[in-house]
Amino acid sequence: MDEQDAKKKIDLLKSKIKKLNYDYFVLDKSTVSESVRDSLKRELVELEAEYPNLITPDSPTQRVGSALSGKFKRIKHLTAKKSLADVFSGEEIEEWYGRIKKLTPETIEFICELKLDGLNITVHYEKGLFVRAVTRGNGVEGEDVTHAVKTVEAIPLKLEKEIDLEISGEIFLPKKAFEKINKEQEKTSGKLYANVRNLAAGAIRQLDPKVAASRGLDVDFYEIGKNNIAPSPKSQEEVLKTFKSLGLPTEPHYEHFEKIEDVVKFCEKWETKRNDLPYEIDGIVIKVNFLTQQQQMGKTAKTPRYAVAYKFPAEQVTSQVEDITLQVGRTGAITPVAIMKPVLVAGSVVSRATLHNEDEIAKKDVRIGDTVILQKAGDVIPEVVESLKDMRTGKEKKFKFPANCPVCDEKIERKEQEAAYRCTNIDCPGKRQESFSHFVSKKAFDIDGLGEKVIQQLLAEGLLKDFADIFMLKRSDLLPLELFKEKRVENTLESTEKAKTIPIEKLLFGLGVRLMGETGSYDLAKYFLLHQTKSSQKIERYKKEKDEQTLFEVPEDSPTEEEFSVLDLMETAQAIPLEDLENIDGIGGKAATYVYEWFQDPANKKLLEKLYKVGVVLTTENISTSGKLSGQSFLITGTLNEMTRDQTKDLIKKNGGKVVSTVTKDLDFLIVGESPGSKFKKAKELEIKTITETEFKKMV
Ligand code: IVH
Repeated sequence: MDEQDAKKKIDLLKSKIKKLNYDYFVLDKSTVSESVRDSLKRELVELEAEYPNLITPDSPTQRVGSALSGKFKRIKHLTAKKSLADVFSGEEIEEWYGRIKKLTPETIEFICELKLDGLNITVHYEKGLFVRAVTRGNGVEGEDVTHAVKTVEAIPLKLEKEIDLEISGEIFLPKKAFEKINKEQEKTSGKLYANVRNLAAGAIRQLDPKVAASRGLDVDFYEIGKNNIAPSPKSQEEVLKTFKSLGLPTEPHYEHFEKIEDVVKFCEKWETKRNDLPYEIDGIVIKVNFLTQQQQMGKTAKTPRYAVAYKFPAEQVTSQVEDITLQVGRTGAITPVAIMKPVLVAGSVVSRATLHNEDEIAKKDVRIGDTVILQKAGDVIPEVVESLKDMRTGKEKKFKFPANCPVCDEKIERKEQEAAYRCTNIDCPGKRQESFSHFVSKKAFDIDGLGEKVIQQLLAEGLLKDFADIFMLKRSDLLPLELFKEKRVENTLESTEKAKTIPIEKLLFGLGVRLMGETGSYDLAKYFLLHQTKSSQKIERYKKEKDEQTLFEVPEDSPTEEEFSVLDLMETAQAIPLEDLENIDGIGGKAATYVYEWFQDPANKKLLEKLYKVGVVLTTENISTSGKLSGQSFLITGTLNEMTRDQTKDLIKKNGGKVVSTVTKDLDFLIVGESPGSKFKKAKELEIKTITETEFKKMV
């Protein structure tokens, strides 16, 4: 980017941030999440650092606080209200520590407080009596909101001692109160509030105090200003204790630390635990404990040096679309993918984000060069949520879906009522590549050493015509491959050999039948086992095989009559009518059709025969058709101590239980480990039975 482009970009960022700030601070409404605004601000800071001559005094990076709405009387703060510098990772916390360490000869102790997501408020007491409440405003002066704040029951109107005191804290709306308000909204207007913070701020900044009174607001104090307390507190810890003794509410989960590593651990711990709190927090405020040290460290123009706000990894950030490419999936579906300028989202760097399909690109009007909002929820693939159209420079390019497959150049088509284009070439190398990668993936055959590049090379060499060829690979096939040394060849062949014995549900998943996920494959496997072709028929077949040896040579370790072989699976599946498949619990009508078609296809019959021939042996021990947990469904959240998630899932299945992936009202048990996630919250709401790992183990 040259200076001219940088200036253009800086101007766009400035006006966008200004607009968002105005909406947020003055109108108390937000059109995007706060992390999006932070993300744009960060980009501006970075650009300004690169081009310091482009910094102007009106840049949002150069000032503290916000504009005043003009609705209320202005009041000058007794001590200036600064804001906090943000840090976004453990590394940045350590860097901050590195800087402040130089400012004091003594060792530093820390107080970590939960960062409540609400509205900053300053309250004045005179001779122990509540006299006024002021918003932070621009840091120098704020607005008089005494009338509304007075209605917040948690704020004492009289302190335990007759002192003069200026304190700051956060007014917030507990989650329960927020939900209650939204329930009422649902009944009346149907318009739901999206953001707790805005609702709290909005209530305080109403002229009519009845609004604040009816909201169920709460408050916690964390900062001391001008006061005549004697003896005066010496540390932040003492400040919080003094508040408590005066009858002023404080957030109870703060902790005292002597090591910065423990501070980082505390921040990480609360990243997941935050969901269990009855109110929203958006980070941790880390403060130097001793007030004399705080003073020693001083302030910059905007922020004090003695404290920082650690913000939890944002789930929504902004970045630029550098290109749009197409990805061919194993079913031939062609997915547009935005190639992004790399950016940190929810703790990991993202450089690709799905745009789903042609209609989504059109609906969101995403263009190459656009600044967009990216989002990653849990371990889901990052996606583009929205493009910020007012950030456009005019150089953005629209994306046009091509008529041909990006891999094989054959025609692509979009069937009526389908969102995706698909490649029409049955042998499309893109499709094949993805199918093979899926077949060897962890949740299917779990073969080490056959990464994407290797499969690509093997396909190009013509060594993989179908899945069964994987099990026929020889030393001499692998040795010439790039990066394949003796040891890796050995390991790969060993892994392939081991993979030949596979649980039936994993084989079904690996075959890549459309819409058949992990759970569906398990349900299908169970159904097949319960409805297998008669053993007399099987015995007949084995006899025939042995006598005639027509089909192929029966391997040494061929399945005995009792076991369920790949051939049994094939025969069973072929004999089941479509209507029966459609009625399998957990498999949708469409998926049933795909399963039916897959097993009726002669090419697939050949494939299964070949898999049998190369020695693929099915195990059925994970599938229980009866058992202690029969008919009950389970879901796991949080970290388990004694078993891995996969081990626990296997144990559930072995005992006849079912593992599901989302919390619904039909879920029977939620197994809760350490630091449980949002599933825990949802389960509680739905009043689902939660059990610990130990309780679960007792059940089996
Ligand atoms: S201390 C100069 N402590 O976060 C330091 N702030 O990003 C003043 N906040 O404006 C703030 N919990 O509205 C402090 N325990 C806490 C806090 C907290 C929430 C808010 C506050 C402040 C913003 C800074």
